[in-house]
Amino acid sequence: MHLSASLLFLASLPLSMAGKDNGKGKDNGKGKGQGPNQGLDFLAKRAGLKYFGAATDTPGQRERAPYASAYAQYDEIMWGGEFGQTTPTNGQKWLFAEPEHGTFNFTEGDIVTSKARENGMYLRCHALVWHSQLAPWVESTEWTPEELRQVIVDHITKVAGHWKGQCYAWDVLNEALNEDGTYRESVFYKVLGEEYIKLAFQTAAKVDPGAKLYYNDYNLESPSAKTEGAQRIVKLLRKERIRIDGVGLQAHLIAETPPTLDQHIDAIQGFTKLGVEVALTELDIRLQTPATAENLAMQREAYKNVVGACVQVCGCIGVTIWDFYDPFSWVPSVFPGEGAPLLWFEDFTTHPAYDGVVEALTNGTKGHGKGKRRSNLWTA
Ligand code: XIL
Repeated sequence: MHLSASLLFLASLPLSMAGKDNGKGKDNGKGKGQGPNQGLDFLAKRAGLKYFGAATDTPGQRERAPYASAYAQYDEIMWGGEFGQTTPTNGQKWLFAEPEHGTFNFTEGDIVTSKARENGMYLRCHALVWHSQLAPWVESTEWTPEELRQVIVDHITKVAGHWKGQCYAWDVLNEALNEDGTYRESVFYKVLGEEYIKLAFQTAAKVDPGAKLYYNDYNLESPSAKTEGAQRIVKLLRKERIRIDGVGLQAHLIAETPPTLDQHIDAIQGFTKLGVEVALTELDIRLQTPATAENLAMQREAYKNVVGACVQVCGCIGVTIWDFYDPFSWVPSVFPGEGAPLLWFEDFTTHPAYDGVVEALTNGTKGHGKGKRRSNLWTA
């Protein structure tokens, strides 16, 4: 998109999106609706991305549930135009969607997906085949290859079928790799080997032809044996003419030791040059608590670089943070001593990293990095 096209694009936005100003609830004057800032999604679209989004959960599943006193302010930000995309953090996972063999439950997933629809947001759907948060029955049964194939096909058929036509993308396969790039010994791999990967993508392609089909994993944000493993998956499917459209870089990063801008760019390009798109799908950047001016400054830089890398590489299509509000992050419960990984503090003021993201989305990394920059950057 050139400048004239960008202006056309702006002109085509509904008025409610283009100049929306809710003017409330931002104690520190940051966040959407104060001054010239029209929200992260607005800036992302202007920079040529499809969306800037935030994953969210149903109140009952949230990490700090119940925390009802926060909900009104939370909802105002979540659904108020700051974000143009969402992902249900839990509700579509196997554990929720097929808790017993052949018994499907879409209640939790539907709550988030219908909010996305009502608010006209892109929806990323997550995750069809994953070793974690798997319903116990899948792991506790001794399957023949034939039986497990049927289990996978039935699960994908029912779950992707339920949300057919609603998902911009499906994470068809999540975290199938070890750090050295070899396959994780999940129940699926143990019984079926590499075949389960082909079967999952083949089935998803049949069931929801309109959804982009993604492989999604963590530690893919700088080149490594694991990024090579993910490239191998892309090539494997391509060779068999099975559709895969994208690779999701979860981007669960660490403020004190993040990859560099160039490493991010190299990793993203390693995938885009294979002809698949890339998205940052679960971005959060945790720090050693307590948050200090120093580690928050590191976090700001890390957010700027990872978002900036996505902006700089054509083929990186969007960014999703894994919730936006620190109290609802998964980080403190999984990484003791670490936290504050998102863009809004508990009191709903924004992190310095929010400004880092704004900077990246308004070409803050211009002149740095070695990526072929988008031709459609607003300030380029
Ligand atoms: C996390 C959720 O945020 C938590 O609420 C849940 O208890 C565990 O899973 N990689 C993924 C996500 O693909 O689904 C995970 O989400 C975080 C790591």
